[in-house]
Amino acid sequence: MMTPSTTPHRKPLEHVTLRTAAGSRLVGAAIMSQALDDPQAASILATHFSSLTAENEMKPLLLQREKGTFTFEEADRIVDFARRHGQQVIGHTLCWHQQTPAWMFEDVQGQPLPRRDALENLRTHIHAVLRHFRGKVKGWDVVNEAVSDKSDEYLRDTPARRAIGDDYVIKAFEYAQDADPGVELYYNDYSIDYDYKRGRALRLVEELRSAGVRLDAVGIQAHHLLTSPSIEEIERGLRAFDAMGIKLMITELDVDPLPRDPAADLDPYRDGLPDAVQQQLASRYAALIRLFVRFPSIERITLWGVSDRKTWLNNFPIRGRTNHPLLWDRRYQPKPTFDAFLAALEAV
Ligand code: XIL
Repeated sequence: MMTPSTTPHRKPLEHVTLRTAAGSRLVGAAIMSQALDDPQAASILATHFSSLTAENEMKPLLLQREKGTFTFEEADRIVDFARRHGQQVIGHTLCWHQQTPAWMFEDVQGQPLPRRDALENLRTHIHAVLRHFRGKVKGWDVVNEAVSDKSDEYLRDTPARRAIGDDYVIKAFEYAQDADPGVELYYNDYSIDYDYKRGRALRLVEELRSAGVRLDAVGIQAHHLLTSPSIEEIERGLRAFDAMGIKLMITELDVDPLPRDPAADLDPYRDGLPDAVQQQLASRYAALIRLFVRFPSIERITLWGVSDRKTWLNNFPIRGRTNHPLLWDRRYQPKPTFDAFLAALEAV
């Protein structure tokens, strides 16, 4: 007769959540406010996440499409949901070159506004938004995607920079600090963990510090591919920021398993991801999370979405794809990526 095993079993999955497994670290999801109307999505959000980022609703275009008219309703729904479920809210974002109304930094001909006018628009936006969300948002991505992808250019060429000058980044931080001294202030960017771009982000951290503005953390977006960048390259990136004594946040994590060749099939996995790719994706998530949790400076890990049904990677960088980057599939079933993510968090 078989004797019952005395090996302790893992707790049944339904009792283990990402937010409890993450311990004192925040584990977040970016969501659109419509997700709150979907009971399956809302239940996953409430169960597994301790922090929410508005995927679009707090961007300048959605908060102030017309000069002087602020529309906070959709963002407020996310804030309310978070409050009801004991979640922190991350503000994304105050100054960015996309999803920003043209009037903020350009005249009707598309020419840069005079510096004074552009600064006034930036200041007014930041003050109104921070006043509205005071006490409700833990921290803001004050400037998003500030440094250039080009090795011979430091700051990205953007409407804000063309109108104001290189100090637009410092100004945005100063306005945010004035508007709400209690809110955390972040600089957020993509690929700054990569060798080719990291130096410019480190320089920006230095310059913000020398300007005497408060920078509470650097946000690393982490929109990664199946095999690139290598874990070693990301680790070099994290170490370089760590060496500056700055807190870090992984702010927009996802892993794109589809080929990015523009001629590639938009939906190569019609019957779902084959096991081999599923396992490869799960191992990639496991390796990333195992790396991240080795860094105490990483205070938050946020996924850019919940279910493959709604991910920006269905439309980026190629429109109309059927993608599979996240932890829940299109029917809201947890994928092997979920188990891998959870196990890597629990291993700490
Ligand atoms: C994306 C959203 O996910 C999409 O829904 C929207 O259409 C475009 O923006 N880096 C960022 C995010 O900082 O704000 C972007 O979000 C994804 C890339």
